[in-house]
Amino acid sequence: MRYFRLMDEPRIGRLPASFRKLDMGKRRDALRNTFAFSDDEWSSISCAPELLELVDVMVETAVGCVPLPLGIAQGFLIDGIEVSVPMAVEEPSVITAASYAASLVRADGGFTTWASDPLMTAQVFLEAVTAHGEQALSQCEADVRQALAGPLESLSRRGGGYRALHVARLPSGVVTVDLVIDVRDAMGANRLNTAAESVRPLLERVSGGRVVMAILSNAASQRLAGARFTIPVERLEHALPEGMSGQEAARRVAVASNIAQEDPARAVTHNKGIMNGIASLALATMNDTRAVEAAAHLWAVRDGHYRGLSRYNTDGRTLTGEIELPVALATVGGSIDFHPAGRACKRILGNPDARHLSRIAAAVGLAQNFAAVLALVTHGIQKGHMRYHAARLAYLAGARGAEVRRLAQELSASDHMDAASAGTLLESLRDRKDP
Ligand code: MEV
Repeated sequence: MRYFRLMDEPRIGRLPASFRKLDMGKRRDALRNTFAFSDDEWSSISCAPELLELVDVMVETAVGCVPLPLGIAQGFLIDGIEVSVPMAVEEPSVITAASYAASLVRADGGFTTWASDPLMTAQVFLEAVTAHGEQALSQCEADVRQALAGPLESLSRRGGGYRALHVARLPSGVVTVDLVIDVRDAMGANRLNTAAESVRPLLERVSGGRVVMAILSNAASQRLAGARFTIPVERLEHALPEGMSGQEAARRVAVASNIAQEDPARAVTHNKGIMNGIASLALATMNDTRAVEAAAHLWAVRDGHYRGLSRYNTDGRTLTGEIELPVALATVGGSIDFHPAGRACKRILGNPDARHLSRIAAAVGLAQNFAAVLALVTHGIQKGHMRYHAARLAYLAGARGAEVRRLAQELSASDHMDAASAGTLLESLRDRKDP
């Protein structure tokens, strides 16, 4: 393998050292002067002036926005209610796949979902704690509750607040104090971190130890959401390869589900498919996608073996799909109601509260996964993907507007799905149009 320092690469420009200290306008000038952007590259990262001001407040050294595609998955019936699901994602097929699975499931009642209370944990880690100090920590709940009354006051007014305290000793000897807090509709990061930091002096006094650090845990293993559906196997029949019965397709889906329970290398791909749905919804609503992903993967390995997060079973007549996982999605705070895109996507969803949003996310994750697994065990995944590949080739060849779809269709029907054929077919399409 060949290694090289980035700055040895002559084509890569260098921003001025003072870049981060410049104001937004000057940062953008410096950026533009340093890198040879094409017009479309530059305009694609240059959002409206109001948004530039907003993102300048959201992150440091902001220079613009990356306009990710936003689509709407339709057809979802969740607990008897129609839901349009906004999804922000760069990958083709994801939105169509979610909608397709939703449409298969809706005729038989759609998804049934559930969610726990939004319980999150803040952790304080202490060293040099004796056995006596550890015991004292286990018995200091009343003091902790009192110390947290101030920092958690507004949460308590909304029905959330402090719930429990757990003390444990890690193999290294470090003692952890987990504070369980109901964060209601927030993701809770600020609240949890403030809570953990505010009890540092108290915990040191009680235990006689030293605090190493205090921070929320993203595990969210007490903030669970789940979804389930059951459909007759015949429901699968209209889209199967010739000769395959609905019963056989359902059996194969169940086999694929078992494989994802047994083989971690398959399970991670299976779960990636689930997160295609959940992370796209999380991103559209301006939630923290990394937190949701991290929690899901820890949950997947909770018994020491990394497994698929969903399961499918069939009795030969029906197919049932089910998922349960941590979903720390918020509907207030953070960037969610700060960024107008987050507010817009919440509106599309019907302004759910956090538990409701997490239930929608569980249904979307299950739908996404069901569509992928069904495709894998029947036609294979590439059939659907090639349609989108054809559309991209058509766009790259210069097709625009209605031409893209027509050229993509012709490309899909042709023997060669490549750039050269796309160019030739586009010319012939235009010739046929212009007499
Ligand atoms: C692609 O983004 C996701 C899939 O690989 C998921 C899966 O294999 O289950 C299709």
